[in-house]
Amino acid sequence: MHRSLQQMGFYEERVLPRVVELTCGGKRMERVRLPALVGLSGTIVELGFGSGSNVGLYPPEVERVLAVEPSTLARERSGARTAAHPMPPIEFIGLDGAKLPLADGSVDAVLSTWTLCTIPDVKGALAEVRRVLRPGGSLHFLEHGISPEPKVVRWQRRVEPVQMRIGGGCHLTRDAPAMIEAAGLRMDRLTRFTIGPRVFATMSSGVAINDDA
Ligand SMILES: C[S@@+](CC[C@H](N)C(=O)[O-])C[C@H]1O[C@@H](n2cnc3c(N)ncnc32)[C@H](O)[C@@H]1O
Repeated sequence: MHRSLQQMGFYEERVLPRVVELTCGGKRMERVRLPALVGLSGTIVELGFGSGSNVGLYPPEVERVLAVEPSTLARERSGARTAAHPMPPIEFIGLDGAKLPLADGSVDAVLSTWTLCTIPDVKGALAEVRRVLRPGGSLHFLEHGISPEPKVVRWQRRVEPVQMRIGGGCHLTRDAPAMIEAAGLRMDRLTRFTIGPRVFATMSSGVAINDDA
């Protein structure tokens, strides 16, 4: 048991960020990512910055990126991309989306691509998103999650325990749009689509607004 936990630590710390880059990053995924980034501007928080796969894709109106990412290796590996794209400046501000070291109403937008599936306290993270967004600010997201088809959901529930082990806590059956609305944000744009096997690749992409005054 002890040995397998050690192996999992090594896997999650040294291997998983590279697997995420291979499966979620690169040119192939840019067209999937880009719609979620449309309309981002000003100071943004990126939850689960990973190895910086969105660097180079931010609209020119983005002035500053405050990045939240717990993986040391992912943060290190983002260096090449941030060096190649010095604008906008990127600052690492924390390790956990559920604890944002930011003042209330202090950012224009939050970006999450394939991260709400993984954050352990996702309800806490979405409460933090709402707290730090300025009135009228927006959460831009691209997430995978629960399928609308019961047959697929049965498979998602079967596979989820394995996925969580090999995917660093990644859930297959979270419903990102529903969680975002439950956190009190208003859905303004939402597209649902699949890009591969529906168990893993049932996607939602959109923008939700903070209507707090
Ligand atoms: C599937 S990866 C996606 C990475 C990146 N957003 C992308 O689009 O390629 C999920 C990311 O969430 C990060 N993560 C895990 N727990 C987190 C937390 N509590 N707060 C913020 N990010 C977290 C992981 O380290 C990982 O980089």
